[in-house]
Amino acid sequence: MAFLCQKCGYTSFKWMGRCPSCGEWNTFVEEKEETRKTNKEFSKPVPLASAKPVKEIRIKTDIPEIDRVFGGGIVKGAYYLLGGEPGIGKSTLLLQISSILSNKGYKILYVSGEESDFQIKMRAERIGTDSKNIFVMCENDIEGIIEGIRETNPDILIIDSIQTIYSPDFASSPGSITQVRECGGEILRMTKQGECSTFVIGHVTKTGEIAGPKTLEHMVDCVLYLEGEEKENLRILRSVKNRFGNTGEIGIFEMTEKGLKEVKEIEKFFLNRNSEVPGSAIISLTQGTRPLFVEVQSLVTKTPFSIPKRESAGFDIRRLSLLLAVMEKRFNIPFYKYDVYLNVTGGIRIYETACDMGICASLISSMKNISIPKDILFVGEVGLGGEIRPVHLLNIRLKEAERTGFKRAFIPAQSVEVKKISLIKINKLEQIMEVLK
Ligand SMILES: Nc1ncnc2c1ncn2[C@@H]1O[C@H](COP(=O)(O)OP(=O)(O)OP(=O)(O)O)[C@@H](O)[C@H]1O
Ligand SMILES: [Mg+2]
Repeated sequence: MAFLCQKCGYTSFKWMGRCPSCGEWNTFVEEKEETRKTNKEFSKPVPLASAKPVKEIRIKTDIPEIDRVFGGGIVKGAYYLLGGEPGIGKSTLLLQISSILSNKGYKILYVSGEESDFQIKMRAERIGTDSKNIFVMCENDIEGIIEGIRETNPDILIIDSIQTIYSPDFASSPGSITQVRECGGEILRMTKQGECSTFVIGHVTKTGEIAGPKTLEHMVDCVLYLEGEEKENLRILRSVKNRFGNTGEIGIFEMTEKGLKEVKEIEKFFLNRNSEVPGSAIISLTQGTRPLFVEVQSLVTKTPFSIPKRESAGFDIRRLSLLLAVMEKRFNIPFYKYDVYLNVTGGIRIYETACDMGICASLISSMKNISIPKDILFVGEVGLGGEIRPVHLLNIRLKEAERTGFKRAFIPAQSVEVKKISLIKINKLEQIMEVLK
């Protein structure tokens, strides 16, 4: 008998209110500690040089937005975990991938523990797939599922979702840490033996983590998140861990009646190039290796309070205070007399310092009530001395800017290879002030 923290898997022999490992409150649940008795077969140590060379086989969906997130296609024999909030479109995405791959001749087994075959059929009809290569199994018992996998021997296995699967060998309820860990481990063994690529869907908790133990995230080869605002149609597929490619890669989709559609003109979600208002500037950020252009808006108004307000949506408020302090010190702009509101459009969160220059430009523009033309792009980190520092992936950002029709770019003094955009190299933030006069 032991008490297990449902968040991190910490084990204690007595109940505790707060987990000493992860610091969460009220996460301890009593669970019987049971271990499965198996006939163990151990593998033998072999010299690395004599290990069988394995060629990585990639299964491409031929949708660039999806393939890029996987690092160039789904890897044969890999174990994927897909997380996302309820109703965001996880089942839809995997059914669409199933549809594409089944048309290429791959055999798919779709195991659902939460929907009936009728519901899956309805979704399949909505997204327009009727492939005979997709097998559906509505089952919650892991033993039944393993039987099904052996019988079908699929190329792609989908488990929807790990929180609804249970093993009768353990008394705890589906979704508990023991069940998730054991069932996840059992599926991993099947995946590695059978060499099928497996996708497991995981629900996320209120704090945005995949429910169940962190051990599941360590166990899998690749962790993907499907994100987006449910009210809006934009969906972002993001790889947060990838043993076969770059992490942080994103794919952008639009949720339609017929399922997720890749978005080719992303700009239309983030940029409104028709109206020029003071306080609005366009910045460049990168997600993995994918450049994105986003509009930041700020509103700088005289404050009636003794302590001015600083509000920010999508940008670190401490970094905003830092940039305001730099401008106050270097240019004598009395921001302490003004309330500052900053908003990053499209619901995107900025973590990159390469956006600093654009944010400063937006703040000055609102302060001085001068609008910035929408064909200008700002890229550059601002240092405490007001100096503009170099950024990474500048060439990639500018090439994409060229493609999307920007005419001018304010950049740090770095060498770049683009020709169609007129580049204004900036050493000190003061130089932007010249433009915004
Ligand atoms: N008829 C429809 N037209 C347009 N969009 C639809 C339609 N039906 C469903 N959707 C979209 O599909 C989404 C639900 O997709 P899906 O069931 O794949 O989500 P999920 O992440 O698997 O949810 P759950 O966590 O409940 O399993 C809805 O939020 C909605 O955006
Ligand atoms: Mg679902």
